[in-house]
Amino acid sequence: MNVHAPALANAHLPDEQTSAFARDAVDDLSQHPKRLSPKYFYDATGSELFEAITRLPEYYPTRTELGILRDRGSEIASIIPQRAALVEFGAGSTTKVRLLLERCAFAAYVPVDISGDFLHGQAERLGRDFPDLAVHPVAADFTAPFALPAQIAGLPKVGFFPGSTIGNFEPHEACRFLRSARDILGERAQMIVGADLEKDERVLYDAYNDAAGVTARFNLNVLVRMNRELGSNFDLSAFTHRAIYNRERHRIEMHLISKRQQAVRMLGTSFSFRPGESIHTENSYKYSIDRFAALARGSGWKVRESWTDANGMFSVHALIAE
Ligand code: AVI
Repeated sequence: MNVHAPALANAHLPDEQTSAFARDAVDDLSQHPKRLSPKYFYDATGSELFEAITRLPEYYPTRTELGILRDRGSEIASIIPQRAALVEFGAGSTTKVRLLLERCAFAAYVPVDISGDFLHGQAERLGRDFPDLAVHPVAADFTAPFALPAQIAGLPKVGFFPGSTIGNFEPHEACRFLRSARDILGERAQMIVGADLEKDERVLYDAYNDAAGVTARFNLNVLVRMNRELGSNFDLSAFTHRAIYNRERHRIEMHLISKRQQAVRMLGTSFSFRPGESIHTENSYKYSIDRFAALARGSGWKVRESWTDANGMFSVHALIAE
């Protein structure tokens, strides 16, 4: 995502995407309970707020995954075929992919992202820093089938999906995504995937309820975005951020809670909110090593290797197509 979040982002929305946002927002706010898709977090402000989240002391995933990629880079390199094409699903900040590109002898890099402008800037910078690497950006929604560039047809393929963005998919969506990645990358492909792990609930709670309130601003920004892009009249001071850990479902849930009885107008429809009523904006699933392996197995992949940090906070998996 350009965001990298990212991986779920659209930095700049053409009209077709604005209409999809409008349709989704009206449908999702008409549900009981109300909800919004986390993919709409990532406008320019949301992407900046997410980058700020990744630097928070409480938000351990980004720095922990970077540490694993740095510490295990040579092991990862040793199981990846030489002169392969690295296909990144959702192209965010290039910090993580650079760690792989520096350690593994890739012949080509294919960042796939819905935001073409962002992709081309990123491709240009990487091309400058890795002159022997062929960079072939693909502007596409990576959660749906897309064609790989013809230039990499003869190369072995390695997928890359870092950041635990897989945790923002419902389990059936994660399975569908991994199956689709398997079909796109083809037989004998490999894939490197980052997944956040279950842990002490206090640590999880604090990571999504940071003291500086950046995650709250990130969550509330989706209302700002709807006011700007869809002409709604959400009163930001009438909603509050809440993140809780749902133990039975192994996930952090983010909500926006209405502080009072109120009605909000958007695109000719009035949405009423009771005091305490929630808009469910995001799930962030936390895996165990075994549950991640089961997800991979059910999606056409086998775990070849799994790495975690010394404290067992985060995991990086090397998958091989079955
Ligand atoms: C992008 N994704 C992996 C983040 C997460 O941790 O689920 C998004 C996020 N939401 C709140 N803080 C970070």
